[in-house]
Amino acid sequence: MTTSPKISGRVFSGAQPSGNMHLGNYLGAFKNWARLQDSYEALYCIVDMHAITVWQDPLILQAQIREAAAAYIASGVDPARSILYNQSKVAGHAELAWIFNCVARLGWLNRMTQFKDKAGKNKEKASVGLYVYPNLMAADILLYKATHVPVGEDQKQHLELTRDIAQKFNSDYNADIFPLTEPVIMGEGARVMSLRDGSKKMSKSDPSDMSRINLNDNADTLAAKIRKARTDAEPLPSDASGLQGRPEAANLVGIYAALMDQSRDSVCAEYEGQGFAEFKKALTDVVAAKLAPITEEMARLQKEPDYIDGILLDGAEKARVLAAPVLAEVKRTVGYL
Ligand code: AMP
Ligand code: TRP
Repeated sequence: MTTSPKISGRVFSGAQPSGNMHLGNYLGAFKNWARLQDSYEALYCIVDMHAITVWQDPLILQAQIREAAAAYIASGVDPARSILYNQSKVAGHAELAWIFNCVARLGWLNRMTQFKDKAGKNKEKASVGLYVYPNLMAADILLYKATHVPVGEDQKQHLELTRDIAQKFNSDYNADIFPLTEPVIMGEGARVMSLRDGSKKMSKSDPSDMSRINLNDNADTLAAKIRKARTDAEPLPSDASGLQGRPEAANLVGIYAALMDQSRDSVCAEYEGQGFAEFKKALTDVVAAKLAPITEEMARLQKEPDYIDGILLDGAEKARVLAAPVLAEVKRTVGYL
């Protein structure tokens, strides 16, 4: 860890190793993770316990855990400064999650929209793990008393639940143990939508590969995906208000803005009056330029599984050291001997 002074607080975040890492993950999460490690002590976790809430083939899961680690590092997470590890290596996550299963209320979990989306029509067939997934997420964060959690917008509800759990635990046990964690939802990339349907978020689990730009797509593939992305017949408006009611157009402008660290307004001002065929060419250049170094670095890292495994082992050891006193405090508070 660096010796430079850090702003007080601790950052925790994670992503599931359940499929292709994509542009939404990068813009909504990884890019911000890399930034925050300059100011905060940070833990970045590969949440492999969350991943198995839906079926994962064991061999493929192994490869995806390493791929996730490669994606974090290639996006700028520095294992020398931040703690990078996979969740299942630190038993405290599961231990605290059980305690939170006993704190959270059924009514709270019944309101979680991600469960409803993922379980689909056949709720009876969903795993119990999928249902209590948000309690494990609260445990991830609170095991380290993390104060800030950088995520995409889809995780807001889960972070509200995390605050509810922290508050209820503190008040049930008349203890001041857990902080009320702040979500950090930054910039124009907080909600990247599918390239095929502007009403759905870009997602690992979308059956159509054309719906997302994967971090390991090559230049030809991503150019074809952007060329075929849905849009409308109108040109770019003079400012972002002209994107209202045009979800696909708004999404492409938002991706450009997020990658260039601009606002949607300034992108509109630059391309005002141009058609989307033209704009898509400019967007392709920007996506290709920003992703190429990440794609290359991911490919390089994935050829070194031993290096990645070493980083995860080292990260898990450091995480355990931070988790131990919190878990001990919680167990004492609950009344365990
Ligand atoms: P997941 O892929 O669901 O494990 O998500 C990992 C991180 O990426 C979380 O912080 C999500 O909020 C973020 N994320 C996932 N999909 C998107 C998206 N389409 N747009 C923005 N952020 C996203
Ligand atoms: N539920 C998050 C997602 O799907 C992943 C996650 C698990 C997470 N535990 C976390 C994110 C803790 C932030 C903090 O994106």
